[in-house]
Amino acid sequence: MSVLRTKSVEQSIADTEEPEYRLKKSLSALDLTVFGIGVVIGAGIFTLTGRAAHEVAGPAIVVSFVVAAIACALAALCYAEFASTVPVSGSAYTFSYSSLGELFAWIIGWDLILEMFLGASVVAQGWSAYLGTLMEQLGMPIPAAIGYGGTVDLMAILLVLVLGGLMSFGIKESLRVNLVLVAVKLFIVLFVIVAGVLFIDPANWVPFVPEAASRESASGLSQPLLQFLSGIEPTAFGVGGIFAGAALVFFAYIGFDVVATTAEETRNPQRDMPIGIIASLAICTVLYCAVAFVVTGMVPYQDLDPAAALANAFAFHGQAWMATLISAGAVAGLTTVVLTLLIGATRIIFAMSRDALLPIGLAKVHPRFRTPWLISLVVTVIVAVVAGFTPIGLLEEMVNIGTLSAFVMVSIGVIVLRRRRPDLPRTFRVPFNPWLPGLSAAICVYLMLNLTVETWLRFLIWLAVGFVIYFAYSQKRSRIGQPGYIDPSLPHVVAHRREGEDETT
Ligand code: ALA
Repeated sequence: MSVLRTKSVEQSIADTEEPEYRLKKSLSALDLTVFGIGVVIGAGIFTLTGRAAHEVAGPAIVVSFVVAAIACALAALCYAEFASTVPVSGSAYTFSYSSLGELFAWIIGWDLILEMFLGASVVAQGWSAYLGTLMEQLGMPIPAAIGYGGTVDLMAILLVLVLGGLMSFGIKESLRVNLVLVAVKLFIVLFVIVAGVLFIDPANWVPFVPEAASRESASGLSQPLLQFLSGIEPTAFGVGGIFAGAALVFFAYIGFDVVATTAEETRNPQRDMPIGIIASLAICTVLYCAVAFVVTGMVPYQDLDPAAALANAFAFHGQAWMATLISAGAVAGLTTVVLTLLIGATRIIFAMSRDALLPIGLAKVHPRFRTPWLISLVVTVIVAVVAGFTPIGLLEEMVNIGTLSAFVMVSIGVIVLRRRRPDLPRTFRVPFNPWLPGLSAAICVYLMLNLTVETWLRFLIWLAVGFVIYFAYSQKRSRIGQPGYIDPSLPHVVAHRREGEDETT
C-alpha cells in the first residue's frame, strides 16, 4: 500500500548530499549537549516543581523527577540509536519514514510541528510573563497593554522576531548566543542549589511522602483520560502522587529529543548524536533532582508557590535580591528554549518539504548562510503572530501529547528497523531490544493517558487536519512515489554503484 511505503535509510542519507538542500555540517558533541540543555531547562523547572510538590507529591517530588527521567532515558536511548543510524535532519519523522512507513512518518512530522510550534509560542509567552515580573522587581514595569496578558504581547513578538532573524543567519551563530544564555541559566540553577542549601530546614522533608488524600477530582473535559475511561478517582500524595507528579514534570524534560533534529548539521553524527542526547538528559536530571530537593527543604510543601516556586522560596526567607536574580535567570533561560524550538520546527518542516510531503520549494537552502531561510521566515512569522495575539499559554499540555506520541513511534520504530534492516551499521544500540524500546513505548502511552480529555480532543482534531492534508496533497506529490524514483538500497542499484566506484578508483 502506498501510504505505508518506506524511504530507505540510504535514500535519506543520499538526499542530504544534494547541493540545493545541503545544510552546513558544523556541530560537535559539546554543541549538541549545550543545545540540549538549552531547550530542556526552561519553564518546567522554574514553575512546575512548585506546582507538583504543592498539589500532588510533596517532598517526594524528587522521586517524581527520577521517575520522569527514567521514562525519558528509555526514549532517549531509542532516539540515540536512530540518530546514529539515520543521521538526517527531521528526527523522529525521518526515523519513522525509514521504519514504519510514509503515513506514520507524516503523522509524526505533523505531531512534531505541533510540539515545536506550540512549545515555542507557549514558552515565548512564559518568557514575556517572567520579563514582566523582572521589570517590576526592578521598578520599571512594562505597560500592561503590550506585556504578558495584554491586548498584544509585544514583548513575545519582539523576542520571536529577534530569535527568528538569528536562526536564519546561521546555526553556528545561533548556537554561540545559545551558549552564553545557557551558561547564565546554568549559573542560576546552580545558584538556587548552592544558596538554597543555607536555608534548608530538614523538618520540611518530614513526612517525605505525605499521606495519600483524595484529590479534588477534576471533572468533565478537564479530567485525565484514564480517569474518564476507568472511573477511578485520582489521589494526591502517597505513592500515587509520585506518579501523578511525574506526569506533570515530564514537561520539564521535553527537548532532549530536539537535539536529534540537527543530526544533519553535526560533523560526526554517528558518534556525537548519542553523546549529545544522553549527556544533556543526564545533566538536566541531576540538576532537577537537586533543585527539587533543595526547594522542598527550604519551604514546607504546603507553602510552596505553585506559580514561581524557585524565586519565591528565596522571597520566603526575606532574600528579595536573590528572587530578582532568579527571575533574571528565568528570562535568559526561556530565551534559549524558544530559540531551540524554533530551530527544531524549521528542521522538521525542512525534512518534510525536501521529501515533497510539504511544498518542496520551501526546502531551498540559502546559498551563503546554508540555512533553510524560507522555512525559517514562515515559522518565525507564524510563531510571532500566535504568541503575540492568542491565549496560547493555555495549551501547554498539547506540547506533552505531541512529544509523547513521537516517543512512542520512535520506540516502536527501533524494534521495526532492527527486524527489517539488521544489516545497517549502528554505532549505538539500545540494550535489551525489543524489551527496552517496548517498555519505553508503554510508559509513554501511560503518561499520555494521564493527560486531559480536552487535550486528547484537540489532539484528535489536529490529527484529522493532518490526515486531510496528507491525502489531499502529500500522498500524490511524495518524492519517493514519483515514477522515476529509484531506491538506492535496492540490490541492483547497490551493485551498479559499486561497479561505478571500482571503475573510478
Ligand atoms: N523542557 C522545556 C521547559 O521546561 C520545554 O520549558
